[in-house]
Amino acid sequence: MTSTRTDQRILENLNTAVLLFSDALELKYINPAGEILFEVSARRIAGQPVIRLFPESPDFIEALRRSRLSGHPYTERGACLRMPDQRMVTVDATVTPLQERNGHELLLELLQVDRHMRIAREENLITQYNNTRMLMRGMAHEINNPLGGLRGAAQLLERELDDDALKEYTRVIIGEADRLQSLLSRMLGPNAIPLKRRVNIHEVTERVRALIQAEAGPGVTILRDYDPSIPELHADADQLIQAVLNITRNALQAINGNGSIMLQTRTQRQFTLGHKTHKLVVQISIIDSGPGIPADMLDKIFYPMISGRPGGTGLGLPIAQSIANQHGGLIECASRPGKTVFSIILPLEEHHEQR
Ligand SMILES: Nc1ncnc2c1ncn2[C@@H]1O[C@H](COP(=O)(O)OP(=O)(O)OP(=O)(O)O)[C@@H](O)[C@H]1O
Ligand SMILES: [Mg+2]
Repeated sequence: MTSTRTDQRILENLNTAVLLFSDALELKYINPAGEILFEVSARRIAGQPVIRLFPESPDFIEALRRSRLSGHPYTERGACLRMPDQRMVTVDATVTPLQERNGHELLLELLQVDRHMRIAREENLITQYNNTRMLMRGMAHEINNPLGGLRGAAQLLERELDDDALKEYTRVIIGEADRLQSLLSRMLGPNAIPLKRRVNIHEVTERVRALIQAEAGPGVTILRDYDPSIPELHADADQLIQAVLNITRNALQAINGNGSIMLQTRTQRQFTLGHKTHKLVVQISIIDSGPGIPADMLDKIFYPMISGRPGGTGLGLPIAQSIANQHGGLIECASRPGKTVFSIILPLEEHHEQR
């Protein structure tokens, strides 16, 4: 048997949120993991009715009621609950009615699972991007070499030709070879080794803002929402400008002359990227008011050559993603009509591991 003090210590150190409700479904106890999940102190929510804790989950509350009345425990996996502060969380919930003298108390255990799902998804994404990037670079190299030969031969041929009408053909070959060459150099991506120095992230966003402002028409509003306290990054400023510019230019094209683009900077603590949890990351979000990205396209846009625009090469986002990866970070996207958010997340430590 454990002592009450030991029980208490176990409860306080569990990662699972533990809540105890009275027969009237009012909160009697919440452990520290529960306080973290709900982002409130136990003192503030003690005695609150269950509806206050899950204001928008009537089905979940109904299931709790039924369990209390019937005395049957149950587990629900992957329940999506909205927290009182509007956050959505995904949890595995276990409900156990406890027989008391005058009715049932209800023990509720909540284990947040969306963090795990997110980490797994990111690991998958990073592996997929790396594979595609290697494939793309390999192909670009293979095409690059014969292309140089082709262009050289057309130049030699052009010198031998007297007839201007025939020279027109060699010029087409040379012109198209040049176009292909510039496409390939984009596919090969930014120079392999980033030139890192101390960079203020707002140096990057302000540069992009100036460039986009110059391209935007009068119907476009560009807004800023910066956190001025963000520490300096150790990064290649030109590459970061390229990444943010690619995303912001897409946003500009999406709103098509009418709407707003917001450049936002924030920090986040304890953020997991792949296998590593970073103490502090910087998040640069580009938010536009355009029509959004169709659902069937959303999970493909970071792959090369995927474009929904006439004349688009579909390289802007994969290049941006590969720059973020080279800085130990990644890019996420969420989109619905009227609000598309691309977030570049970069670790803020001095020395990054090279992926
Ligand atoms: N903010 C956005 N709103 C709506 N659709 C977007 C947005 N950003 C990207 N997209 C979609 O994702 C596609 C891929 O973007 P990406 O930048 O990789 O290529 P692209 O813009 O088509 O060509 P380019 O290589 O010239 O950038 C776009 O063609 C567009 O359909
Ligand atoms: Mg683009």
